[in-house]
Amino acid sequence: MKFGYFDDQDREYVITRPDTPLPWINYLGCQEYFGIISNTAGGYSFYRDARLRRLTRYRYNNVPMDCGGRYIYIRDNHSGRFWSPSWQPTRHDLGDYSCRHGLGYTVIGSAYEGIEARTRYFIPLDENLEIWQLTVVNRRTEPARISVFASIEFCLWDAQDDATNFQRNLSIGQVEVEDGIIYHKTEYRERRNHFAYFACSEPTAGFETSRDAFLGPYRGWEAPAAVAAGQLCNSIAHGWSPMGAHQVNLDLAPRESRQILFVLGYHENPVEQKFDPPGSQTINKKLVKPVIARYLDAKTADAAFARLREHWDKLRSTCQVETPDIHTNRMVNIWNAYQCMATFNLSRSASFYESGIGRGLGFRDSNQDLLGFVHMAPCRARQRILDLAATQLPSGGAYHQYQPLTKRGNNDIGGGFNDDPHWLIVGVSAYLKETGDWSVLDEPVRYDNRPGSETPLYEHLQRSFRYTVERLGPHGLPLIGRADWNDCLNLNCFSDTPGQSFQTTTSKDGKVAESVFIAGLFVFAARELAAIACRRGLNADAARYLNEVQKMEQAICQHGWDGEWFLRAYDNAGAKIGAKECKEGRIFIESNSFCVLAGIGLDDGRAEKALAAVGKHLATPHGIVVQQPAYSGYYLHLGEISSYPPGYKENAGIFCHVNPWVVIAETRLGHGDQAFDYYRRINPSAREEISDVHRCEPYVYAQMIAGKDAPTFGEAKNSWLTGTAAWNYYAIVQWILGLRATFEGLLIAPVIPSQWPGFTARRIYRGVVYKIAIERKGNGNRVALAVDGAPIEGNLVLPPRDGRREVSIRGILS
Ligand code: GLC
Ligand code: GLC
Repeated sequence: MKFGYFDDQDREYVITRPDTPLPWINYLGCQEYFGIISNTAGGYSFYRDARLRRLTRYRYNNVPMDCGGRYIYIRDNHSGRFWSPSWQPTRHDLGDYSCRHGLGYTVIGSAYEGIEARTRYFIPLDENLEIWQLTVVNRRTEPARISVFASIEFCLWDAQDDATNFQRNLSIGQVEVEDGIIYHKTEYRERRNHFAYFACSEPTAGFETSRDAFLGPYRGWEAPAAVAAGQLCNSIAHGWSPMGAHQVNLDLAPRESRQILFVLGYHENPVEQKFDPPGSQTINKKLVKPVIARYLDAKTADAAFARLREHWDKLRSTCQVETPDIHTNRMVNIWNAYQCMATFNLSRSASFYESGIGRGLGFRDSNQDLLGFVHMAPCRARQRILDLAATQLPSGGAYHQYQPLTKRGNNDIGGGFNDDPHWLIVGVSAYLKETGDWSVLDEPVRYDNRPGSETPLYEHLQRSFRYTVERLGPHGLPLIGRADWNDCLNLNCFSDTPGQSFQTTTSKDGKVAESVFIAGLFVFAARELAAIACRRGLNADAARYLNEVQKMEQAICQHGWDGEWFLRAYDNAGAKIGAKECKEGRIFIESNSFCVLAGIGLDDGRAEKALAAVGKHLATPHGIVVQQPAYSGYYLHLGEISSYPPGYKENAGIFCHVNPWVVIAETRLGHGDQAFDYYRRINPSAREEISDVHRCEPYVYAQMIAGKDAPTFGEAKNSWLTGTAAWNYYAIVQWILGLRATFEGLLIAPVIPSQWPGFTARRIYRGVVYKIAIERKGNGNRVALAVDGAPIEGNLVLPPRDGRREVSIRGILS
C-alpha cells in the first residue's frame, strides 16, 4: 500500500494522505540554518547545532506524534470554523491534501470548505532564515472573510536545558515586538548575542507572543483559544513560554488568490552593537531589518527559491544515470544523492529519531559519509576531512564524536573505538580519487585540536595505520577496544548495572578481545595508504604498509577463517564469535562482507564461500540481517548487541549500512545479478508498494529494517541520517555501474545484471563531462572501451591532456 507517489520530473515525492504510518520528513537548509519538516508541517529549526542553537520547540515522543511545528490556521469568520491546511494540528477531513517534499523545500496544502491554502517552506541559500510562502485561494462562488494565523513556539536555545530546567526557564523568556515583527530574545541581555524573529509580509490584525495567551488554559495546538475567538490580543510574554503568532484578515472575492509570506530567522549581532540605543536593553535591529524586509517580498522569495532549485540541480548534475531500472535511476539521480548531502550536513544529529541533543558528528560516520557526497561538494569535503583529522589523538586513535559548533572532541565519550582511525584513510583516499588534490596531504593538522601539535595530514594517516599495528591481540588480529563498526559488540564492557553506557563502560583491560572486521578494514585501508604512498614516491613507506597487510591477511587466514565463512571476533576469554560452534551469533555480516570487499580470499575460494554463506544464512527478502541466530538473551560478555530483542538493531536486524558491503563484495566476485538483487531489496523506492509494512519514507534509506526474528519483520526505523545513504550510493554508482573514481582517472568496470541491455550516464569528474554509454553484447563483465571513438587498452580513462571538457565513452560488455 502506498501513501503517495514519486514525481520524478519535478524531483518531488508527493504524499497524498496526511496520516502516513510515521511522520515523513524532509530537510530545509543546507548550510548553517536548518529545519526538519514533516508532511503535516511538524518539526523544528536550528542554527548550526541542533542542541545549542534550537530556535523552535518540538516534542519528541509525544502523543499524538509529531507535535510542534510551523502551524498555520485558517478561520472562516462567517461560520467561526477553523482548520489547518497541513492537517496537523487540527486534523480536519481535508480535501485535495498534498505534501510535496522536494530538494530543500516542502509544499503542503489542501482545500477545506472552498478555501484552498498551500504553503511553500524553504530556506534561501546563504541566509539564516526560512520562508513560509502561503497562497490562499477562494474557490467558493461567494466572497469569503477569513483570518490566517501563523504560529511558532520558541525554544530557549539549548534544547536539552529547554526540556528539563523548568525552575529557571519558566522565568527567563523575553520578547520584543516592533513594527509588527516579533523578536525572541531570551538570554540576550546576558551572554547571547543572537535572537530569533518572526515576521509577516502583510499588515497584521494582531499578534501573540505568550503561548498561554494563544492556546488558553488547558488547551492544545489543535484548538487555540485565540484562533477560536478569531482575535489575537497582542500579548507580551514574560517568562513561561514565548511564542510567535501573527493574524492576517482577508476578504477574498470568488476565485481571488492572495499570497502571504512569513519569515522566521536567526540573527547574531556584533557584541559591541548589541543594544540600541547603546546602554539600553533593547535589541539593535538595524542590521537585521533590511534582511527581513528583503524576504518579505514575494519576488525576492521566488528568486531565492529558483536559486535553491538551481543549486540542487547543479549538485545532482555531477552524476546522472539512465538504467533499465526506475528505482535505481530515481535514487541515484535524486533521492540518494540528496540524502547523502543531508547526512553530510547533519551527521546523526537531528531527524525524527535523532533528537538533536545527543551525539555530535561521529568520526567513523562522517568519514564514511564522504563516500556519498565528495563528488558533489569537494571543497566542503576537504574542510570536513581537516576538521575530523584535528580530532584525532596523538596515539592515532580518535575521539569517537565531536561537536560541530566547537569542533572539539567529546570528552564524555572519548576514544578507544579501534576501527575509527582507519575510516580517516578511507575518507581521504575517496577525496583524492575524486579530486586529484594531493595538496591536502601536506595540510598541517592538529591532534586533539591542540595548537602546536600540527603535522601534515599524511602523518595522521600514518598514525591511523600504526594505531592498529601497535594494538594486536593474541592471534595477531586487531584488538577491538570499546567496539568496532558494530557499536553494540562490546567485548570489554561486562555491564551488569542498569543505565551504564555499553560504549564507555569498560571493565576489562582490552588485551584479549580481537576483531576480524577491523582486520579486514585494516587490510583495505592500509592498501589504500600504500597506494597513496607509492604515488608520492614514498616507496619504503608503501612497502612497510604492504608488509603489515600481508601479515594481517595471514592472521585472518589462520585465525579468522571458520571453514565456511570469516569469524567475527574473539571475546575477552579468547573464545570465537561468529563461528559454527556458537549456539547463537554463528555467522555475521560485517567480517564476511568487509574481508571480501577488501579483496581477501578472492583467489583461494574463501570469498566465494563466505558470500555463499551470507546468502544462505543471512539474506532475507527485506535485506540481509547482521547475524544469525539472533541472541535470545543478554550475554554479559557481548554487551549491547544482546540487549536488543531478536531481530532489532544490531541483534539480527537488517542494518542497512552493511548491506552495500555485501553488494560491493559480490561485484568483486563478478556476480552482477546477485549484487543488484541485494541492492534492490533495501532500495526505498522499490519498497514503496509496501509502505504499510516498511512504514518509513519511501524516498530515503532507513538505518534499520526489522529482521526475520522480529514480529515486525520488514518494518524500517531511523530513516535519513545513516551511513546507508553513502554506502548504497557508492555501491550502485562505483561498483555495480562501475563508474569508479581512482587516483589516476575514471575507471569503467560495470558489474551489472545479465539481463540489462546496458545503461548510460553523465558524470562530471575533475571538471570534465564524461558521457558514458555501456552496451551489453554478452553475459560477462569484460568491457571494451572507445574514448571519443578511439578504442583504448584496458578500462581506465585518463583525464584528457588537451584540455577537452567533454569526453564520450562507449563501452561494450561481453
Ligand atoms: C550507528 C552508528 C554507527 C555504527 C552503527 C552500527 O549507525 O552511528 O557509528 O557503526 O550504528 O553499530
Ligand atoms: C546504540 C545503537 C547503535 C549506535 C550506538 C551509538 O548502541 O544501537 O546503532 O551506533 O548507540 O550511538
